[in-house]
Amino acid sequence: RTNVELEGRDLTYEWVSQIMYLEALQLTSREEAGLEKPGTTMQQIPTYVTAVPNGTEKGLYMAVDLGGTNFRVCSVQLHGNTTFSLTHSKVAVPHELMVAKTSKELFSFLAKQIESFLKLHHGDHYATHLEKRGTGDSAQDTEIFSLGFTFSFPVNQVGINKSTLIRWTKGFDIADTIGKDVCTLLQQEIDALGLPVKVVALVNDTVGTLMARSYTSPGKTGTLLGAIFGTGTNGAYVERLENVSKLRTSKEVGDYDKSTGEMIVNTEWGSFDNTMKVLPTTPYDDALDVESNNPGIQMFEKRISGMFLGEIVRRALLTLFQDGKSGIFTDADSKANDLHSTTNVDSDSALFARWGLDTSFLSTASGDSSPGLRLTRQALAKDLSINAASIEDAEAVKVISTAVGKRAARLSAVAIGAIVVASGKLEKSTGNEEDDVIDVGVDGSLVEFYPHFESYIREALRDISQIGATGEKRIRIGIAKDGSGVGAALIALVADRMGTKAP
Ligand code: BG6
Ligand code: GLC
Repeated sequence: RTNVELEGRDLTYEWVSQIMYLEALQLTSREEAGLEKPGTTMQQIPTYVTAVPNGTEKGLYMAVDLGGTNFRVCSVQLHGNTTFSLTHSKVAVPHELMVAKTSKELFSFLAKQIESFLKLHHGDHYATHLEKRGTGDSAQDTEIFSLGFTFSFPVNQVGINKSTLIRWTKGFDIADTIGKDVCTLLQQEIDALGLPVKVVALVNDTVGTLMARSYTSPGKTGTLLGAIFGTGTNGAYVERLENVSKLRTSKEVGDYDKSTGEMIVNTEWGSFDNTMKVLPTTPYDDALDVESNNPGIQMFEKRISGMFLGEIVRRALLTLFQDGKSGIFTDADSKANDLHSTTNVDSDSALFARWGLDTSFLSTASGDSSPGLRLTRQALAKDLSINAASIEDAEAVKVISTAVGKRAARLSAVAIGAIVVASGKLEKSTGNEEDDVIDVGVDGSLVEFYPHFESYIREALRDISQIGATGEKRIRIGIAKDGSGVGAALIALVADRMGTKAP
């Protein structure tokens, strides 16, 4: 028992003590290197989006969203007064399509979802389009929906709707797609079904989140950063155009509006410190990485995001259980309830299965204040078939779940802090509290559901010496729930204005 507690404490100590402002500084300096040249581990992808909205934008747009827990199809009516109406449908992408042999298998599935959505929610529009196609009416172009494609993976973006996939993340693995233009892949399948839809912009979910947050809560200075803490983690922020020097040196770069002097940059911070110079690690992190489908890649993300945290906790619990010294899941109470074995873990328990434990389990255990940790013990029974776990077992599980979740939040703070420090905004103050707000929009299941995630982030922000308690108070963090649909619609609008709608 003591070992369980000690192990829990050791992990907590080891993990949180290493996250100091120096790491934030390192993130900052690497970030700058990424702005200068292509091919750095943190890619700093220019998005060709050169302004954040101010809430007055209007129109009807479509968006699809691939890369989070669900694939979503949306239509968004922007009312122009900071409000919008959103119609959407969502479906989980079947696992076999995430690891399909050809891109076509995945992209034709996506196009079929768009077709079903149009039939269901825009049936009249769709029927008119079919009629006009039948008669060869040249007016059909006016009926075409502009679609923003939220595609939340690292891409080489050379124009607002021109991006080739660099690599898959978050469990997707289709070798055939690498190096291909993903807007073209989607457009081909849309055209094969004859749908009235034109893919006009490619958007990362972080960029969508930033745009949506800026549309709904436009402050005097706009939103600085959009960040996702969900299945994966990443951030996009507003950078001064003159700092994105690789735009000037690359031959591939297309035309873009330079008038605002700014551009949103997608950091792809999930790959921060892939060489592991500063990130904390444990045997559980190391084993998870080695057995993942992208060892040595997305090392920051593997310590933060929802796809991985359950697996880290599962590995920690399994090690404690198997080494036999801790007594976890085998104490007297448990044995009394299970006469047929020396432990109360079923042999087919998900404790033994890779990716067997969902990150939602951490939220339950970390947030459990029920008498006798009843909720954690129920979750152990439901998720891991560990029946009759003792209160002490549940306490150990809570300590470990909290350590893993808190480390994730503190690392998230390192990333947010680095962008805030690099923006130079903390050095300027108008003396007016509202004008001095540094606005950050966030989305994703982890920040939404993991208990106290934001307060852990805030605690760590205060520990970064360049931010401190005064700076932390200026940082406003707000959820942009399902923001990327709205954000993608806004970027589709920008793309239309830039004239990319013309075929
Ligand atoms: C959704 C956004 O709300 O959150 C997606 O629409 C984003 O674009 C997702 O990828 C991230 O959260 P999760 O938990 O679904 O990965
Ligand atoms: C992964 C993707 C990134 C995305 C993030 C959040 O890190 O590489 O593009 O923004 O997940 O979904």
